[in-house]
Parts: sequence; C-alpha cells; structure tokens
Amino acid sequence: SAGGLVAESKGAITAEPLLLNAVKGLDVERPPVWLMRQAGRYMKAVAVFVFLLIESGLSFFLMAVEILISQSYQAICEKHPSFRERSENVDLVVEISLQPWKVFKPDGVILFSDILTPLAGMNIPFDIVKGKGPVIFDPLSTQNDVDVVREFVPEESVPYVGEALTILRKEVGNEAAVLGFVGAPFTLASYVVEGGSSKHFSKIKRLAFSEPKVLHALLQKFATSMAKYVKYQADHGAQAVQIFDSWATELSPVDFEEFSLPYLKQIVDSVKLTHPNLPIILYASGSGGLLERLPLTGVDVVSLDWTVDMAEGRRRLGSDIAVQGNVDPGVLFGSKEFITSRIMDTVKKAGNRKHILNLGHGIVVGTPEENVAHFFEVAKNIRY
Ligand code: CP3
Repeated sequence: SAGGLVAESKGAITAEPLLLNAVKGLDVERPPVWLMRQAGRYMKAVAVFVFLLIESGLSFFLMAVEILISQSYQAICEKHPSFRERSENVDLVVEISLQPWKVFKPDGVILFSDILTPLAGMNIPFDIVKGKGPVIFDPLSTQNDVDVVREFVPEESVPYVGEALTILRKEVGNEAAVLGFVGAPFTLASYVVEGGSSKHFSKIKRLAFSEPKVLHALLQKFATSMAKYVKYQADHGAQAVQIFDSWATELSPVDFEEFSLPYLKQIVDSVKLTHPNLPIILYASGSGGLLERLPLTGVDVVSLDWTVDMAEGRRRLGSDIAVQGNVDPGVLFGSKEFITSRIMDTVKKAGNRKHILNLGHGIVVGTPEENVAHFFEVAKNIRY
C-alpha cells in the first residue's frame, strides 16, 4: 500500500512488511499470516524437491533431485540435544528461526528462543528437559529468594539474541516482519515459583493470597526487566514484539487486575516512551473471561485463542485494537477442505482490516507438515 512506503538506508524504496501495515490499520490486500511455534518439532525435513521430467524415447522418467537447503530441526536436535544450547547459539537460533521462513514464507519470522531464556541472567538457573518441559532448579518462595533475583541486562546476558535478530532482519529484508517476544511477569513468576509447569498453581497462589508483597516484588523485577528486554530486541531488529501471558488464564478477573494487568501495562508504557511505533501483541491463552480488560494494557494487538468467536472478540475488544488469531491448532489435523473453511470463517469474522491470521495457540507436535503448508497457501491467496 502506498501509505506503507519507506526509504531504506540503502536508498532503495521498499514496501513495509504487510504485518506492520495491517497493525496500523492501513488498507492491505489480505491478512498477514504467521503461526505461533512455527519453528520446531513438527517440521521433519526442510528440503526443496526439484522434479525434472525427462522425455527419453517412448518412456518418461521422473527424476527427483533433492536439494537440502538446511538440516531439519530434528537433525539439529540430535546434534545439539540441549534446548538451551540450541536457543543460545547465534548460528543455530538463526538457522532454526529461518526454517519455516524458507519453506512457507510467513509474514512474520519469530525468533527461536524461549520465554525462560532471560532467567539465567537474572540469577534463576533453569533447564528445558525433553519430555518434561521447563525446570527451575531452586524455585523461589521467600522475600530472600526474590532479593537475589538480578535485574536483567540483555546486552550482558543474551548478546546472542541481539546478534540473531540483526541477522534475521537482514535475511528477511522487508518481505516479512521479524518478531521478538517476552514472557509476561505473571507467567514467568508462575514458572519460577512452581519450579516448572503446573496443574493447580498452588505455590504461586499461596504466595499471591498469603504473601502478596513478596509476589509483587518479584513481578516488579520481571516487569522492569522485560521492558528492557523488549527495547533491546527492538533495537536489534525486532519489528514487533509479542508478550506471552500463557498462565493469566489461571487468575480470576479480580486477581488478573492485581497480579498481571498492572505489570503488563508497565511494560507497554515503558516501551511506548522510547519506542512509540513498535507494535506490541498480547497473547493470554484462555482469556475469554478477560477480554474487555486486555486493551487496558495499552497493547496494539490482542491475540485470541479459539475459545472466543472472532466476531464476538472483535466487538468486545473495540475497534481501535488489532486482533490476531484464532484458528484452533487442532484444525490442522483435519482435511484440507476443512482447514480452508475454518481459515475463511475466521477471516470473514475478523473483517478486512487490523487482522493478523494465526492459530489460537502454538502448532501441536505431530501436526502434518503438509497441512501447515496448505494453511499458508490458502492464507496467502486470500484477497479482501
Ligand atoms: O513460536 C516460535 O516458533 C518461537 C519459539 C518459542 C518457543 N517457546 C520455543 C520452544 C516461543 C515463542 C516460546 C514461548 C514459550 N515458552 C511459552 C509461551 C507460549 C505458549 O505456549 O503459551 C511458554 C509457556 C514457554 C515455556 C516452555 N518452553 C514450554 C511449556 C515448553 C514445552 C516443553 C515441551 O517439551 O513440550 C518449552 C520448550 C520449547 N520452547 C520448545 C520449543 C520449540 C520445545 C522443546 C524443543 O523443541 O526441544
């Protein structure tokens, strides 16, 4: 769109990425599309098949020449079995982030990393264990524990993130937006207090409901640190940033207002002071009961899960804000026709502006890769 033309430093005039134009509410020809967890385990092999049809006499020979453009995520996992190694090495981060880009050309390329990545630099040792998920070695429970949490200094602790983002930005140019992300204070606090993933969230709720001051002190440290981290990512090439509040859903609305919303708002306010044009996306899974409260954080985009009807979500969020989502990741286990119909349903309900097409949560391991390819193909052929 003409409104999205910017002068590049090289002097060339290039269109801004579709995703950024859509967030601004400019006229776009289709919704931009990317998928949460698009980098990772569902991808078997990243290969390009070139079929040469050779006619020879009366017979046809089909010759398939396979050109491997990079190794598969699973091959990388075999060579580098530790998640932390894969996510803290510039070359691997760049390579894994680019795998879905090379195959599907999404409109957003998300950094391969984890919401827990900053924890080590905050003096909270952790690992991500295969089959078990995140593990915090010394879960926090007292004010003393909170006192030893260091404020995050991204330049010192995660220089590989900045380097990787800068390379990604060069690699994708303006064909897609490079996306950074951080964990929301409450979600990060859940992991470090529970010691990992949790079913009942009893430890963090004990803290919230019997020693709220301790939890608030921890949330404050995360809010200050994540605001710095968002700015650091933006300064190194991220063109939009998503905040994941994956466990906000565990809070009743009044508790969300006390333990999550103010800290989300602090991050957004702080980032907007220095980076007023950086779009911020908020994803809170299971947030149907909280929708009207989410725009109070000041974010530009709310990412909806599939338990909310897109048209209703739009109405409840108000017209200023952009929406992302919200196809059920399970839809990708259906037939191609079914996938198409669900995409079209979401797109119709979202309307023809301020919508980023996405799933309602991350791609599930075991999703047929050809269905992911179909999702992108249908999405990219939509015309408003
Ligand atoms: O979207 C992307 O492709 C970018 C990569 C990304 C990862 N984690 C890589 C990853 C992103 C955006 C995240 C965010 C994240 N991490 C969230 C928020 C999103 C959500 O799902 O709500 C959360 C809650 C985490 C914490 C975490 N890290 C969990 C629950 C797990 C899964 C554990 C498991 O084994 O199932 C991880 C590990 C992790 N982070 C994996 C990936 C690809 C899987 C482990 C692996 O590939 O070795």
